[in-house]
Amino acid sequence: MPQLAGKIAWVTGAGSGIGEAAALALAAEGATVILTGRTPEKLDNVARRINQTGTAHVAPADLTDKAQVAAVGRFIKERFNRLDILVNNAGVNIVDRHWDKLTPDGIDTLIQGNLVGALYCVTVALPFMRAQQDGLIIHTASMAGRFIGGVSGPIYVTAKHGIVAMSHGLNMQECINGIRSTVFLPGEVATPILDKRPNPVPPEVRARMVQPADCGDLIRYIACLPKHVVMNEVHLAPTHNRGYVASLTRTL
Ligand SMILES: NC(=O)c1ccc[n+]([C@@H]2O[C@H](COP(=O)([O-])OP(=O)(O)OC[C@H]3O[C@@H](n4cnc5c(N)ncnc54)[C@H](OP(=O)(O)O)[C@@H]3O)[C@@H](O)[C@H]2O)c1
Repeated sequence: MPQLAGKIAWVTGAGSGIGEAAALALAAEGATVILTGRTPEKLDNVARRINQTGTAHVAPADLTDKAQVAAVGRFIKERFNRLDILVNNAGVNIVDRHWDKLTPDGIDTLIQGNLVGALYCVTVALPFMRAQQDGLIIHTASMAGRFIGGVSGPIYVTAKHGIVAMSHGLNMQECINGIRSTVFLPGEVATPILDKRPNPVPPEVRARMVQPADCGDLIRYIACLPKHVVMNEVHLAPTHNRGYVASLTRTL
């Protein structure tokens, strides 16, 4: 019997990359998945593949708009009246991410798209999970949420540190309600977000990175852990870590 049969899982950023892989993996383990992102065509494509053997529903929304987030919450309430798992994964980066080019609009995109939208999604998930006295939230932060580095840009780093803090704070307050929060910190993953790097990332470099399916499998594993344990924080990085490799070639 699939371990997540009967579970309702909401995956944000489900139209591509890590979210797509998480939705596929959770559905393969028996969960009914709700797919959210801004582009209905991408979500429909993932849903079509899942619905060959499992169950997926498409609920498009721009998560930076709290009214649209609330509308997804109403859809979940009316259709299922429960929520077991939230994969709080959607995120963005921009080409002009460094201080020499950053604008207030760019800052809004990064903070709203990586932090505020994720906070809104938690406000939708918690009432279901409190009522059930059970629930799991897995947030995709980043290594940039723990380690301050240059590649991702300072505002993305700021937002992802916020995600890490949010997840630990959730456990501190909601553990008494049987709610578990895991913050997932990937290193470089070969997904479309890399297309926003100021310097193009060639295919042979992407091939050595973590792959989306690696993340999907990890998220499925976390979702299958028994209710009495929480994986507070988990890192997943490429073996050929470009940050480490660069440091090996430096001389002090
Ligand atoms: N790839 C990496 O190296 C890496 C490393 C560390 C952390 N991460 C994080 O991993 C998460 C997933 O990213 P990814 O790498 O899988 O890249 P991706 O393929 O670009 O996925 C991001 C998804 O989020 C959705 N999204 C963005 N803004 C949204 C919004 N306002 N409302 C709803 N959906 C939105 C996008 O779909 P639409 O554009 O259709 O809305 C897209 O499907 C992000 O939080 C990212 O920061 C990635």
